[in-house]
Amino acid sequence: MPRAAAYSLEAAVRQSPPLDANNAADDAWVRDKTIVITGGASGFGAGYLKRWAAAGATVVIGDINVKKGDQLVRDVKKETGNPNLHFFHCDVTDWQSQVQFFKDAVKVSPHGGIDTVVANAGITDPDPTIEKPEDLDGPNPPPPNLAVLDVNLKGVLYTTHLALFYLPRNPDSTPANPNCDPSQTHRDRHLLLLSSMAGIWPIPAQTLYATSKHAVVGLYRNLRSSCFMHGVRINLICPYFIDTPIVTTAGRMVLAGGAVGKAEHVVEAATRFVADPRIAGRAVFVGPKLKVAQNADGEWNLVEREEDAGEQRAIWELYAHDFEDSELFTRNVIRIMNRVTEIRGWAGWLQDMIKAIKHGFRMTSL
Ligand SMILES: NC(=O)c1ccc[n+]([C@@H]2O[C@H](COP(=O)([O-])OP(=O)(O)OC[C@H]3O[C@@H](n4cnc5c(N)ncnc54)[C@H](O)[C@@H]3O)[C@@H](O)[C@H]2O)c1
Repeated sequence: MPRAAAYSLEAAVRQSPPLDANNAADDAWVRDKTIVITGGASGFGAGYLKRWAAAGATVVIGDINVKKGDQLVRDVKKETGNPNLHFFHCDVTDWQSQVQFFKDAVKVSPHGGIDTVVANAGITDPDPTIEKPEDLDGPNPPPPNLAVLDVNLKGVLYTTHLALFYLPRNPDSTPANPNCDPSQTHRDRHLLLLSSMAGIWPIPAQTLYATSKHAVVGLYRNLRSSCFMHGVRINLICPYFIDTPIVTTAGRMVLAGGAVGKAEHVVEAATRFVADPRIAGRAVFVGPKLKVAQNADGEWNLVEREEDAGEQRAIWELYAHDFEDSELFTRNVIRIMNRVTEIRGWAGWLQDMIKAIKHGFRMTSL
């Protein structure tokens, strides 16, 4: 299908070109950055802390697990000799707690600002009651437990809101620019969101978890079209099942016999985003590292014989070309709507504006 110029929005929203799969992150570009991570006491958060501490960054982690977070920071300080590592208690579901966390991070930042925010804290669904109506006997059905939405959605929205407040105020930072020289760009304005493969496809029996992660993808897809206006760049990681404490025993049993990824590859993907200030509006899926090859139709397949050609891959570009090649349905609907607007012309615009003014100046629908 020919590519219509009207759909070429990448330049308008400052989306950078696809990641170069052969290019690892340059840890030197992480040095001197101040990075704030929610849910940093375990799993990926602990992995980011270790990698970026070793690279010389200031890393500030917040978590509800005070004992684990405190100990982790002590251990990594000792291992790396980096004194600029900090733990603060932070409950992402509590607005005041997150505000305090960001204020503390700014206070300990050597340059008084934040370069990257990683909205990482997350939980799985502790009680997927929404799926079990047969358990709800009695005349008054109990409300569903929405704790997973509190952490994975409300918490991420709070983090995003604070990131969009603090990142543009990062002293000496300039608006994110895909054409900058990373070795000369010491200050940054970067928000990294953590969704999941559950943000792309369903996970039966984890409906609320998958709903929360779909919402994070929605947040990302909306913000990448607008947050460049604050000079902020945004990127997204969607991991497959990765071996961290979040994967429960029941989950491990379901996954038994299949492929599971490693946290180091999520850390690698995140490091690429954090290190390179040119990357904006990109999303990756991170899964187990496997040998794969592309056939003549462009389909990827597993390379099953040692001697056959292929490449080792854990990180895959995702939501890569949707600005250029939007889905057929969306494209058709938008084309029809644009045609209606064209036909109605200025007369239609004027008619609607008069109607809107008569409607009164209400800023909400309530
Ligand atoms: N490991 C996987 O298979 C996988 C796959 C896809 C997405 N993810 C996502 O990656 C992120 C990190 O997960 P992980 O695998 O490192 O899990 P993890 O359980 O090892 O780490 C999550 C951290 O978040 C913290 N946390 C929970 N509730 C919090 C709250 N209210 N406030 C602050 N911190 C809180 C926990 O204490 C923990 O330290 C999560 O958003 C998760 O949904 C993980």
